[in-house]
Amino acid sequence: MVDVGLRSSPRISSIPRYEAGLTSAEVLAAYGLESAVKLASNESPFPPLPEVERVVASRISVLNRYPDPPARALRAALAERHGVGQEQVVIGNGSCELILLAGQALLDPGTTVIHAEPSFSLYPHLASASGAEGIAVPLTADGAHDLETMAAAIDERTRLVVICNPNNPTGVFLPPERIASLLDAIPSDVAVLVDEAYFDFVARPDAGRIMSLARTAPNLLVTRTFSKAHGLCGLRVGYGVGSEDWIAALDRVRQPFNTNALAQAAALESLGHPAAFVERTEAIVAERERVARALAGMGVTAPPSQANFLSIDAEPDWHERLLRSGVIVRDGRALGAPGTLRVSIGLPEENDAFLEALSRLIVG
Ligand SMILES: Cc1ncc(COP(=O)(O)O)c(C=O)c1O
Repeated sequence: MVDVGLRSSPRISSIPRYEAGLTSAEVLAAYGLESAVKLASNESPFPPLPEVERVVASRISVLNRYPDPPARALRAALAERHGVGQEQVVIGNGSCELILLAGQALLDPGTTVIHAEPSFSLYPHLASASGAEGIAVPLTADGAHDLETMAAAIDERTRLVVICNPNNPTGVFLPPERIASLLDAIPSDVAVLVDEAYFDFVARPDAGRIMSLARTAPNLLVTRTFSKAHGLCGLRVGYGVGSEDWIAALDRVRQPFNTNALAQAAALESLGHPAAFVERTEAIVAERERVARALAGMGVTAPPSQANFLSIDAEPDWHERLLRSGVIVRDGRALGAPGTLRVSIGLPEENDAFLEALSRLIVG
């Protein structure tokens, strides 16, 4: 049943609703708290760089003009960075938009899209919104994509395979050679989207290998975002690098002015400060490792994460009890991962607040 009184596609009722996490203000009001730490949305704890703030402020006075439809300056910078032509880069209103556009461009009723489960909550939308069949392949017991089963699910109806690396919500990173083998093994006209939203937090020398393959593979698109490590999620800007066929397909379905002017300018400026970027990213990675060690010391299980969050095994009441202590984390039930909590890595003092609240919970 459609829950609106309009003549509409029956598909609408099957599209999962996004369950937004609680805001700090909601938690303060609900629990009568004076302060809370928000570690629920995998955001950066750092504000945008001062140079980025200045550029954004300087563009406000020209907001009467439309943004550049192909985001030429940002595309050129990203093309150079990744060693591809500009016709291999697409900019989106967050990488979420590009993922949704992939569904719009590639899927029809009678076709299939394959993704992992639990994984990023947006992926099931691709099938529901298009009328295609979504094949959700459970993760392996260690929280990784089961690429063999995903490959085995590919048939003549398959149009799209989505791989989230590192995976949200487990944080587990799939070695790039495994993804490369999958690409070798499947028909070259089956589109593969590798979502690397958390790439910047991966501390492995081979992390960039899939992006290198996107230069030449005919069926690969790699998406990344300025939302996480660049701390620009409030502006909405992400990008994809892939084959010309992939980019042409996305360009056909995107609205011309999909990425706003402030987002384009901010992302471009943010790319120009690599030292500050690396310093911030390394701080998050160091904190992730510290929190992981502390959790292990408390006997709390978490798969090894290469993202800016950890997924911990949790008792059913921990989410609520952490909220009461002013620590907002994401309940795994909302992420298709009951029995877990996902905690984002914040500033050291925020992470300490989480660890202290959790240890109080465990002790008593
Ligand atoms: C795996 C994954 N992909 C994509 C995104 C979306 O990022 P964006 O803000 O670029 O739309 C997220 C956001 O949480 C994510 O977890």
